[in-house]
This record gives sequence, structure tokens and C-alpha cells, in this order.
Amino acid sequence: MTGKTELSGGPSLPQERRVVTAVPGPVSQELMARKQASVANGIGTVLPVFARRAGGGVLEDVDGNSFIDFGSGIAVTSVGNSAEAVVRRATEQLNDFTHTCAMVVPYEPYVRVCEELAAVTPGDHAKKSALFNSGAEAVENAVKIARAHTGRQAVVVFDHGYHGRTNLTMALTSKNMPYKHSFGPFAPEVYRVPVAYPYRWLTGPENCAEEAAAQAIDQITKQIGPDNVAAIIIEPVLGEGGFIVPAKGFLPRIQQFARDNGIVFVADEIQSGFCRTGQWFACEDEGLVPDLITTAKGIAGGMPLAAVTGRADIMDAAHSGGLGGTYGGNPVACAAALGSIETMRELDLPAKARRIEEIMKPRLEKLAESSEIIGDVRGRGAMLAVELVKPGGKEPNPEATAALAKACHQQGLLVLTTGTYGNVVRFLPPLVIGEDLLNEGLDVLEEAVAGL
Ligand SMILES: Cc1ncc(COP(=O)(O)O)c(C=O)c1O
Repeated sequence: MTGKTELSGGPSLPQERRVVTAVPGPVSQELMARKQASVANGIGTVLPVFARRAGGGVLEDVDGNSFIDFGSGIAVTSVGNSAEAVVRRATEQLNDFTHTCAMVVPYEPYVRVCEELAAVTPGDHAKKSALFNSGAEAVENAVKIARAHTGRQAVVVFDHGYHGRTNLTMALTSKNMPYKHSFGPFAPEVYRVPVAYPYRWLTGPENCAEEAAAQAIDQITKQIGPDNVAAIIIEPVLGEGGFIVPAKGFLPRIQQFARDNGIVFVADEIQSGFCRTGQWFACEDEGLVPDLITTAKGIAGGMPLAAVTGRADIMDAAHSGGLGGTYGGNPVACAAALGSIETMRELDLPAKARRIEEIMKPRLEKLAESSEIIGDVRGRGAMLAVELVKPGGKEPNPEATAALAKACHQQGLLVLTTGTYGNVVRFLPPLVIGEDLLNEGLDVLEEAVAGL
């Protein structure tokens, strides 16, 4: 290897798919043996190669293979890995100071991120934010704030919902394996109700929104009592549950019910937010203005940062000193977020996400027509998925899903699986991916489906 271009990651990395060894290659295999000896089993691996560099739309491994990235580190590197503005701002901050603890001595980047969050999230009411390290921590804090504001305890979540891996967020999460199994007991006062999952709604998709909302509201009313509910938390597009887009009309009905009953309506936009679905936030699609919104992942281009943003009066319900944590809103992560938001604006990344949908969705739909195991194609923007079923019906097909992901990996395309039934292949390319790479990735996918 020679020049600087080849040695650095980020946007200057050659934008090509390149498979030069078996996957995983020998260097990755050696590292995997070390991982198995020193890293806890619970930390799994989707693609058993080790990363060396990443940027734009590719991830290069230690054996020199270059994968087209349809995963973005699970919807994180929307601006691309090592994006120029993220690196520049984070580097400047690293040189100034790395930590003071925002609760001990505050700093401007923290305040600036909160100002930006007020500007980019839906609604023009007075807003405030609090910053944390991870999505799960943000969701936990949204619950604390909603409880402090309402003086109530119950929290309502939905079938197929995912909110994290801490004790409270495991309780909020729907799926047992791998997130909860053997890790209980879980936090109390958490109640789960139906969500409008059009593809699997028993009476068909037509009345799904109405029926699911009616069932959810009925269960809340009969089993909990609306006066006991502090918060209703929902992902506007359900991520780990299988990229389920709730049938149109469901979310507004649920929000109206929350509003009518003094319940804090929380949109968990940790996966769907920050331009991913073609708008800054997925809840904008139906004009929703949540009381609180949780964000993480795409916010800071790969640096750990998360936030709760919402109505100033609700956010101020927690007493002074009641929220925080040693690292929450770390200055380097805040600087990275400012670089990430700057990039989203400059490159108009919501438009890029819509363009990705324009390219990908018709090809996925065509693929579904020619394949009897693709039962559904769904999602918005650059948050798209196919649900795999057994031929002739809707029985989930997790075996074909795993085989398809593996076949893609072997050919240099990084895809992720998801879904309550483990039968969804999801596509989350960086929003800065080149159209050639996007199309080449789809070629690989089509060949892999044909070869199943
Ligand atoms: C919707 C949603 N909420 C919460 C989380 C938890 O975020 P973190 O993994 O940063 O704790 C995730 C992570 O996948 C998520 O997708």
C-alpha cells in the first residue's frame, strides 16, 4: 500500500466491493480465536471478519476484503464512517479537553447539541434535552422523566418493540431470545399491547390500524387504567421487531389517546431517527409531534451519544441533579454530533434516504415477485427490509434468512437480519453510499436469493 488515500478510512477509502480471501480470511480467523479466548460469549458476531477501515459505503477487513455496507453499524453511521466534519470537530475537541463531566463543569458543545435537537425534532413548542451515552439509557431516562411529570408508574409498550438491554429496557423489549432469556426478573409496571403489523394482522391489512389501536386502547383501559399510565413508548418504525411500519392511522390514534388521558407519548427514534427514513424523524410521516423523543445511533456518526428531547415543562419535571451520569453528553461525542448534523444538513441526507428508497424498493419488490420466499417488502427511506416465509404461506423462514445473509456476506455484501421471528433481512446503508455500490449490492442480493 502506498499513498495516504489508501491508508486512511473515511470518505477517501476506495469505494469498491472486493473479495480476495474466503470469508472470513486467515487474519480474521486468527483474531476470532483470540476473541473466543478473551471476550465473553454473550458478545456475538454477525459477520466474522475484523474491521480495518470503513468509510462511505464500504467496510474493509483485516484480510483486505471490502464489503458493501448495508448495515451502518446498525443504523449508526448514516453520515458514513469517519465523516469529514465528524472527524474534524471531534479532533478539535479532543485537543481542547476530553472530559470535565457535564454535571461538574458544563461546556458549550453540550448546550449546542441540545439547541440543535430542539431545532430538528418535530414541533415548534419550547423544548429541552438531556444527553446520555446509549439508546437504552435515553429510554430509561424518558421513563424517569415521564414518571416525575405525571406522578404515575405504568409504562405501555408494544408487541415487537425493542428499547434496549438494561433491566428496565429489557422489560420494555418484546422479544425473549436473545435479549431477555435467563436475565430476569424484569422491572415491574410494564404493559405490552398490540401493534398494527399489516403483513401479519389476522383480518388483513385494510382495518389493521383501526383494529389494533382499538385493541391496544381497550387493553390499557381495562387492564391498567389510563390514570395510572405515565408513558406510552413506541418506535414509529419498529426496528428489531422486523422493520414493521405500523399501518397508517395507528400512531395518530395512540397519540390522541395519550393526549386525552394526560399520558406522555414517547417516540423512540433511536433507530429510525436522524434522516434514516427520508425525513429527519420517522414520526413526521404522519405529522406526529411526540411529547418526548429518544435519539441515539445516527446522532453522532459513530460516537456514543443519546438524548431525550421534549416539551420543556415535561423535561423540567425531574429535580435538579436527578438526571445525568459521569459521561452523559461527553464533549467529544457532542462535537461529533455537531459534525454529523452539519453533514446531514449540507448533504441533505433526508433526500438521499428517499433516493435510496427510490432505487432499492422497486428492485426488492421485483425480487419478491420472482421469489416465493419473500413475503413482504417494507420500510421507508434507507430503512428497508424483506420478510422471508416458507413457500406457499406466511410461516416465518428463519433458516432461509440466515442462509441468505451468509450468502451475501460471502460475496462481499454486509446485511443484517432482524425480526421477532428471525426472518427479516434489513437494509440500512449509510446515507452517503454511492448509487453504483447500492445497485451492486442489490445485484449480489438478487444472485443470493436465486441461489437459495
Ligand atoms: C428503537 C431502539 N431503542 C433503543 C435501542 C437501544 O440503544 P442502545 O443499543 O444504544 O442502548 C435500540 C438499539 O438498537 C433501538 O433500535
